[in-house]
Amino acid sequence: MTPRPTIIDCDPGTDDAIALWLALASPELDVRMVTVVGGNVGLQATLANARAVVGLSGCSVPVVGGADRPLLGRFEDAAYVHGDNGLGGLVLPEGPPAAHGLAADAIRAALRAAPRHSMTLIGLGPATNLGLVFATEPALADNVAEIVLMTGALGEGNVTPSAEFNAWNDPEALDIVLTAGAPVTLATLDVTNQALCRPKHVTALRAASQGACATAAADIWDSVAPSRRSGEQGHEQHDACAVAWAVAPHLFTHADVAARVDCSQGIGRGRTVIDRWGRKPRAPNARFLDKVNADGFFDLVIERLARLP
Ligand code: BDR
Ligand code: CA
Repeated sequence: MTPRPTIIDCDPGTDDAIALWLALASPELDVRMVTVVGGNVGLQATLANARAVVGLSGCSVPVVGGADRPLLGRFEDAAYVHGDNGLGGLVLPEGPPAAHGLAADAIRAALRAAPRHSMTLIGLGPATNLGLVFATEPALADNVAEIVLMTGALGEGNVTPSAEFNAWNDPEALDIVLTAGAPVTLATLDVTNQALCRPKHVTALRAASQGACATAAADIWDSVAPSRRSGEQGHEQHDACAVAWAVAPHLFTHADVAARVDCSQGIGRGRTVIDRWGRKPRAPNARFLDKVNADGFFDLVIERLARLP
């Protein structure tokens, strides 16, 4: 097995932290760089959190800061879900310093140096950094193997009735990424809502390892309130679904779809318009993750996090 060269763009974020640890612990991925965007909380905090998460893992992966606001809209965070510091109040040891430069420049440089169809990009936050990459150098889409995004919803949103948080935060950037011409896979709320973290998963993670990363991950899981959407049964592991697809695709079923995003200023702003039935006017441009084997997903997350220090 050759590990997939991968760049992760994220906004940690409680579920981003779990997703990052899953990626860093997985030999299927060769994580070359972590880039950071403002999202769940402001960029200053998401960047500090990404550095801390990477630092705790013991991996030497550069962490690069990027956009602190969407291309056009107004920045709004989700501290009401992730806590003021973005990690549910958990304070991690400070990580290594951020690498020099800006996320979009760093991603473009990595893509320019990559062979055709070779680099996997995993987007776990608002698509601003990735949108800037393809808006400014569209030919780089040729060097992408796959763009996996946690974004959007076929059904109802989680910020507005129409829109999921990442899509709503920067719809213009997301539309640039969706139409860049690279293969796109979407982990939308429809599948991530199935990956519901329940108290039994926290117990299993604590039993699997007392390492610093597993303990921090369990503390983060404990910090997140069960969602109303799940009937207070648990909270959704959105971002780790995108990473799990790149690591263990057999856990998912999927369908080819046409996907765009509503960039209007009306009540549909940020809604991903996803057609899985070949209706007009568009041909498929994305793969939609439909169902996840939730037991297999949590077994994977727990087993991998237990490998970390
Ligand atoms: C997405 O929004 C953020 O709050 C989460 O980190 C995830 O990326 C879910 O809608
Ligand atoms: Ca996120």
